[in-house]
Amino acid sequence: METAAYTVDREEFFRTLVEKSDSGALRGDYSKADAQYVVEQEWHAYTPEQHALWRRLYERQARLVPGRACQEFITSLATLDAADGIPQFERTSDALEKATGWRLVAVPGLVPDHTFFEHLAARRFPVTVWLREPHEFDYIVEPDVFHDFFGHVPLLFNPIVADHLQQYGLGGLKALKLGGLKNLARLYWYTIEFGLIQSPQGLRAYGAGILSSGGEIEYCLTSQNPRRIAFDAERVMRTLYKIDSYQETYFVIRDFQQLFDETAPDFTPLYSRLSHEEGLPANTLLPGEVNIATDQ
Ligand code: PHE
Ligand code: CO
Repeated sequence: METAAYTVDREEFFRTLVEKSDSGALRGDYSKADAQYVVEQEWHAYTPEQHALWRRLYERQARLVPGRACQEFITSLATLDAADGIPQFERTSDALEKATGWRLVAVPGLVPDHTFFEHLAARRFPVTVWLREPHEFDYIVEPDVFHDFFGHVPLLFNPIVADHLQQYGLGGLKALKLGGLKNLARLYWYTIEFGLIQSPQGLRAYGAGILSSGGEIEYCLTSQNPRRIAFDAERVMRTLYKIDSYQETYFVIRDFQQLFDETAPDFTPLYSRLSHEEGLPANTLLPGEVNIATDQ
């Protein structure tokens, strides 16, 4: 990438981030990031208090996943050996690379869309280096290392999810050119972040935003408030979402192969069809749609 283009992109990125953030300041330290926004994890700089906070987060969440997370997540989490403190990304990457060819890269926080897509397209998953503060134990808006690692990394060991996410990255680069970003972002939100799956054992969560949350992991499966609708790629890409409350709708896949297959077709015609649509409210239930019952 040319230096000039990179500088312009970077300024634009910081402007949009500052607009989005309440404090008007960025949380991460971007001063040492390279052109791909990659930093050193600096694992030795984490304090004993930060490792202790991680252990508390991990313990609570690990207690909640049985019966709520899909089996692929649970099995993989157990092999990660991440219960005792903030993990060293390099070590996880070596295991992950053997399993599915993915590696983790350390980033200061949110990165620009095209950078994010480029990492995914190259089978690199960006993981934020900083950990939340103790008072943010239950809730945090921006993704931190606990969300990124605990929520996302286990399913990167699944070959179908691993391939899907790479395709998503390639699709993202394409969507940027076609004006489809807002539609494609909704797909990520309602699947990779907040997706449910109808597993052989019953309804389970696979989305990272759910699996790293102390409250939503139970809410998404048992509350009578939200809608639970069978996954349909176009329906998802038409649907608005809320980032600061529990979801009003969850979309349910049958298995990861369905997610892969239904996102494989060329989205070009879809983006042009949807480009003038404002988006369906997050709590929409269209005529003919079935609200899937909870097992509990
Ligand atoms: N099939 C999509 C396209 O043509 C790319 C994509 C694949 C998007 C997988 C999301 C997930 O743009
Ligand atoms: Co996430």
